[in-house]
Amino acid sequence: MTPKIFLMVGLPGAGKTTRAKGYAALRLTPDEWMLPLFGESTAGDKRQVLEGRLILVALAALRLGTDVVLDFGFWGRDERSALRWLAAAAGARSQVVYLPVGRDVQRARIAHRQATAPHTTFPMTEDDIDVWRAQFQEPDTAELTGGAIPEPPDGYPGWPAWAAGHWPPLAEIVHYRHPS
Ligand SMILES: Nc1ncnc2c1ncn2[C@@H]1O[C@H](COP(=O)(O)OP(=O)(O)OP(=O)(O)O)[C@@H](O)[C@H]1O
Ligand SMILES: [Mg+2]
Repeated sequence: MTPKIFLMVGLPGAGKTTRAKGYAALRLTPDEWMLPLFGESTAGDKRQVLEGRLILVALAALRLGTDVVLDFGFWGRDERSALRWLAAAAGARSQVVYLPVGRDVQRARIAHRQATAPHTTFPMTEDDIDVWRAQFQEPDTAELTGGAIPEPPDGYPGWPAWAAGHWPPLAEIVHYRHPS
């Protein structure tokens, strides 16, 4: 069976980690590493470094035949395109799992989690929520149905080069070539 990678997409409080725990797959959730290590979710450029290391783990697991779930949120289309490309290059299928959430439900879930499981999360203000909602890029139909992967942004020879700029540890796989 071809291994599969699930890409969890959605805003904070959307329910990604809750859903991801239901998959029989290696689950990689950056906040479970960032918060114990650094006491915060981003820590300067450390989150991009940690995410890059987790992506390398994910690609190795796929090559070993293990299903993986990347519980990253993936707010940007380019991030999702890069991961879809890298998964295909590793011989895996990918599925974008988008969990949309309205603002009121999002606020309620964030408040509930802060009250019941504060060690798994970090404080989020009303302003944070509004800024994040404005930044988030909703996945389109092609992404949700496994359609064609767009070209990388101008100036990048391929998605590995873009990914290495975004997630520094991926510099070691810049030599990747797409198999097709
Ligand atoms: N389908 C659901 N119905 C009701 N409550 C839910 C649902 N999914 C998740 N929750 C609750 O909402 C809160 C947020 O869920 P969860 O932690 O899974 O979100 P998340 O998308 O992983 O957020 P983050 O990006 O901040 O990690 C939790 O308290 C969880 O129990
Ligand atoms: Mg989560």
